[in-house]
Amino acid sequence: MQVRVRQKGKKVRYVIDRMTMLDVPRVVEIERLAYPSTWPPSAYRKELQDNRWAHYVVLRDKQIADERVATVQEADKPRRNRLFPLSLLPSRPVAAVPSSDLASIIGFAGLWLMVDEAHVTTIAMHPDFRRLGLGELLLVSLIDISYEIGAKWVTLEVRVSNYTAQNLYRKYGFREEGLRHRYYSDNNEDALIMWTEEIHAPSYKEKFQELKTALLKKLETQ
Ligand SMILES: CC(C)(COP(=O)(O)OP(=O)(O)OC[C@H]1O[C@@H](n2cnc3c(N)ncnc32)[C@H](O)[C@@H]1OP(=O)(O)O)[C@@H](O)C(=O)NCCC(=O)NCCS
Repeated sequence: MQVRVRQKGKKVRYVIDRMTMLDVPRVVEIERLAYPSTWPPSAYRKELQDNRWAHYVVLRDKQIADERVATVQEADKPRRNRLFPLSLLPSRPVAAVPSSDLASIIGFAGLWLMVDEAHVTTIAMHPDFRRLGLGELLLVSLIDISYEIGAKWVTLEVRVSNYTAQNLYRKYGFREEGLRHRYYSDNNEDALIMWTEEIHAPSYKEKFQELKTALLKKLETQ
């Protein structure tokens, strides 16, 4: 599963890829900025390695990767006034390209399939890249995955105080179906339990396709 958003007359800008082990350090970094309490990196590694029902994605901004590579290449150019012969200078770090790839990750999301229900476990954008429609792109990708893996419904828990996320979920047809008291251990906050209707219902499919088309158009013309 891969999503690519190409901006008009330009290169591909946003890409959604499956999360890999290499992505975990950056995912954990973003998670710390996005949530009051976080999973240890080992939890993500375990999810990716051992949980066959788990599906995680990362969102990359390719412009960041390109800028990083350009900066590394610029820094690599031989300078005329160097005092030492080039052979005595430390060689170029081999990790330059992977690190630019890591830095390009600006959000991530995941779900578990439980029988025919897709349970959203996490969705987070780096604070510097919010309000651009990219959290929505992550949710759209999770719903697309839910279709691919045969889920019938999508469900999640969200803090009662997290109106931002609740607005996003309501936009995609999630409705409150219950409350889990003191669900979050960091502050004993309650969680709203939200569910979509059957995602294969023609009315849901149609609404979802409409929202997705409008979102991609918005992102392509940004
Ligand atoms: C929730 C989150 C992923 C949204 O990401 P984002 O990229 O800023 O959101 P988008 O720009 O894609 O907005 C999509 C929709 O979300 C809602 N929304 C986003 N920001 C909002 C805000 N500041 N106030 C109210 N609604 C907001 C709106 O419904 C918006 O649709 P609209 O543009 O048609 O108004 C992001 O705020 C985040 O990472 N929060 C911290 C982690 C978190 O709380 N995750 C959810 C756990 S359940």
